[in-house]
Amino acid sequence: MVKALSRMEYRGYDSVGIATVHNSALIVRKGVGNVSHVNARLSLDCMQGSVGIGHTRWATHGAVNNINAHPHLSCNGRIAVVHNGIVENHDELRSMLIAEGHIFKSDTDSEVIAHILESLPAIDDGNSNIICKAIAERLNMLRGSYSFVALTGDGILLGARYHEPLIIGLGNPSRGNDDDYLLFANECFIASDVLGFIEYTDKAIFLADGEVFIVRGEGHNPRLSIRVCNRDGKVVMKDITQIAWEFADVDKGRFAHYTLKEIHEQRYTISKAFNNDPKRLHLLVDSLVNADRIVITGSGSSHHAALMAKYLFSTICMLNCDAVVASEFMYNMGICIGNGRPILLAISQSGETADVLNAVRLARLNNFKIASIVNSPLSTLARESDIFISINAGPEIGVAATKSFTAQIALLYRISVEIARSKGTNLTLGMESSSIYVEKMLEMEAVISDLAERIKHANNIYIIAKGIHYAIALECALKLKELAYIHAEGIHAGELKHGPLALIDEKSIVIVLNPMDETYNDVLTSAHEAKARGAYIVGVSDSSSSIYDFTLAIPRVDRMLYPLYEVIPLQLLAYHMALKRDCNPDYPRNIAKSVTVK
Ligand code: F6R
Repeated sequence: MVKALSRMEYRGYDSVGIATVHNSALIVRKGVGNVSHVNARLSLDCMQGSVGIGHTRWATHGAVNNINAHPHLSCNGRIAVVHNGIVENHDELRSMLIAEGHIFKSDTDSEVIAHILESLPAIDDGNSNIICKAIAERLNMLRGSYSFVALTGDGILLGARYHEPLIIGLGNPSRGNDDDYLLFANECFIASDVLGFIEYTDKAIFLADGEVFIVRGEGHNPRLSIRVCNRDGKVVMKDITQIAWEFADVDKGRFAHYTLKEIHEQRYTISKAFNNDPKRLHLLVDSLVNADRIVITGSGSSHHAALMAKYLFSTICMLNCDAVVASEFMYNMGICIGNGRPILLAISQSGETADVLNAVRLARLNNFKIASIVNSPLSTLARESDIFISINAGPEIGVAATKSFTAQIALLYRISVEIARSKGTNLTLGMESSSIYVEKMLEMEAVISDLAERIKHANNIYIIAKGIHYAIALECALKLKELAYIHAEGIHAGELKHGPLALIDEKSIVIVLNPMDETYNDVLTSAHEAKARGAYIVGVSDSSSSIYDFTLAIPRVDRMLYPLYEVIPLQLLAYHMALKRDCNPDYPRNIAKSVTVK
């Protein structure tokens, strides 16, 4: 369980807890800190029992403290609950439950679930269907999003999924008879992500929204029975999915951090994303070309990839498109006006980001076709899309997006090439040499570490760029913020003189994205303006200039490809800045990798 929780830490890591059943009683241990710290203090891995639930928390409601850590217990101590999501009407439910005599211990929204389940009838051999229905009825009281798992003092696991992922891994599964749709297994692993159990089994069932499950031992039979019901309490027949074993590759290998390992993996992840499945490419390209409007959306780094997509599709492919940050989609309803065949291209590494899923659902209601670029074909986004294509980057554990971002870009290059081809233009970008150039960028690590040492005390870093490079300026700023906790800002080079120049003085660091393309001269002019105010100038360029105090040399490539090679030294810079400033690059404070809440 402790190992599985470590695998899930990317979803949040401010506190940790486990409940097990021993001698027909629930035992709970929980505390503040990441899995290894809490385990060292509370010996989570020595807890007795053969059934348990665990949780790593990322606080949304209630401070980070021992009491607010999950699992939460019902008043009678017979039900323990772990929950992912937000119960939006928890205040209302809390007042109602307190009026009924329930006593709350924590400030969390999650604890209401333990209390509403307390009044469930006792679960026995014959009443699983009734219990499923009773759970579904209680869940109708909840608004918001949830996936939760509850453990009873009798060692029965039950839970439900609504707008948050929940997957049941099955060890050596088999089916019951056709009438009852029961599943049996030697072992069951319930998690928000296959990473939680992939080391133990590659077979799983994916719960759909509104589905409820019960897992229990079958009398003296050592096997477990698994029953899944819908909201009406009717048993649902679930398909068993075979999961790709490549998900199991989640070790740091020879690297000090996952982030560094993932930056190095770009040697092959970029070309893997580019050389994608021809059938899926064809389907996607066909849909994009035949749409009369394309809207591209994503959050964080995936939004930066969306900005790249907008640039590539409109300049290379002459397609009418717009990019909207996923969390802002609902405030841009103008893009939904009009008939015709609109398409939303949603980009998301995890495929579980709540803001992206909300944008997708809103677009669907407004007659958009949904296409997506994901890293996991098993994700909610992939499942909710009409067409999806995977970047095939393998698991990304470091909280900051690195290899997934460049894989998204590589795939967007490929899609652009295919769109151009479908319109009769034969475009070659020279992606065959990508691994060689990525290798060259990685070889700069010692030089980059030296730069990080020189600028590690900076309080403000500005990254200036024009055109397609602006998305990379934003990405670099995001990496510096989240990995090294430095205030950093991506700025359109031409905008410097319209205000930000007032901030520049001899303490400022200005990174200039300045490859030899049509943006070169104008960006150099802006760099001169910053230099004249005393700024330390870092040039990212394939052409040297005396204006740069430090140069990060990138290869001379097709002008469209520059962003791909610019971003790698900048990822390494953020990583080394993090080390020099004593920050843990894998687990930045206050943020989670998979943001499944609004
Ligand atoms: C930045 C980062 C986040 C994610 C964002 C979207 O390094 O990792 O900004 O890019 O939370 O996540 P996905 O792509 O999973 O939708």
